[in-house]
Amino acid sequence: MKDCDIVVGVTGGIAAYKSAALCSQLVKTGARVHVILTRAAAKFITPLTFQSITKQPVAVDIFDESDPSVIRHIHLADLADVFVVAPATADIIAKAAWGLADDMLSTTLLATTAPVVFAPAMNVHMFAHPAVQENIARLRARGCVFVDPGEGPLACGYTGKGRLAEPDEIAGVVEAVLGRRRDMAGMRLLVTAGATREPFDPVRVLSNRSTGKMGYAVAEAARDRGAEVMLVAGPGELPPPGGIRVLRVETALEMLDAVLENLPDCDVLVKAAAVSDYRPATVHTSKVKKTDGPVVVEFVRNPDILMEVARRRRADQVIIGFAAETDDVEKNARDKMEYKNLDYIVANDVSMPGAGFGTDTNVVTIYGRDGTARALPPMSKREVADCLLDVVVRARGGVKQES
Ligand code: PMT
Repeated sequence: MKDCDIVVGVTGGIAAYKSAALCSQLVKTGARVHVILTRAAAKFITPLTFQSITKQPVAVDIFDESDPSVIRHIHLADLADVFVVAPATADIIAKAAWGLADDMLSTTLLATTAPVVFAPAMNVHMFAHPAVQENIARLRARGCVFVDPGEGPLACGYTGKGRLAEPDEIAGVVEAVLGRRRDMAGMRLLVTAGATREPFDPVRVLSNRSTGKMGYAVAEAARDRGAEVMLVAGPGELPPPGGIRVLRVETALEMLDAVLENLPDCDVLVKAAAVSDYRPATVHTSKVKKTDGPVVVEFVRNPDILMEVARRRRADQVIIGFAAETDDVEKNARDKMEYKNLDYIVANDVSMPGAGFGTDTNVVTIYGRDGTARALPPMSKREVADCLLDVVVRARGGVKQES
């Protein structure tokens, strides 16, 4: 972490004393560590402790602008290569989740574009409270990383999950997050997301339950790691992500055209979209009137986009498919990887709670053509995206330099 600038936010909990050990560990790696204490944290541990460890000024008051050449919270926000909040109370997690900015730490957090790591510490019931868990899920979905608290006796007298993770573990996560920073610079990703919609008449369509969340998470994570990203997105509610070229499509045939046109210019294709396998054989130009009896609609097969990609792909491209399965997940996923000539396939058992369509989380295994299988625990779609991109970076031979 040599020569990195790490901003450490310390909030008001008894575990604040442990963040002195964390700062000491980060300083030893050669990083410059800049500490922001909340007023509550300063009741548990003094700014002088952190100043002595880091040899840097410590910020507490947002109005303390001792250097007139900078606006301090913006300066710290811009300076950060990574931002760590340890310990993170329920209060700072809620403020960050909802964009509140009423003191030095929350304001700097809102202004930073650096990756943010939270290490929560609080009473066991507070941590388990749905409000806290919802705020954590909201931040995770936005790409923030959490170092889960440990279990054991807590200062409040309870025993359970709520103890600040050990400084070693937090420092390890900070190092991993820094390693991902711009590790995809120079790579060009083509990502597909969402469902396709196949018209039957001007009113009715054939579609599926995909919202695009998984594909958008991959696109956003790759953008944040420095890749140039193009997103081919089916119809949906999600707003276009900043810094990403978005091509909107409606049908499988339109998605096929968009993918094939942009395939030559990408290094990596991630096909998270749920493409309709069939479309109505006839598209009526007027609304089909209902009748009393049953209606028989003829469907024809849509082309398989990945099979078309397989025919045209270059050997140096990494092609990744997703498999939405309910039975025999591994076998079905591996079979698809083989016959679609993919390098990796991400299998999700869409019958599992918290996995598949519409959820903010997913439960996946990443299978590789080389026989590897990486089963991930339940995690946010953004975290799944980062784990998948770790695999991509390794497959492309590590960190590439920006051209
Ligand atoms: O969008 P969300 O709500 O977040 O949901 C995420 C998801 C469940 C849609 C996603 O995680 C997922 O599993 N996407 C793939 C769904 C799917 O269509 O699986 P499949 O097994 O039918 O297809 C396998 C692969 O072939 C996929 O990469 C698919 O994009 C591709 N395919 C399928 C049909 C077709 N005609 N052309 C294709 O390229």
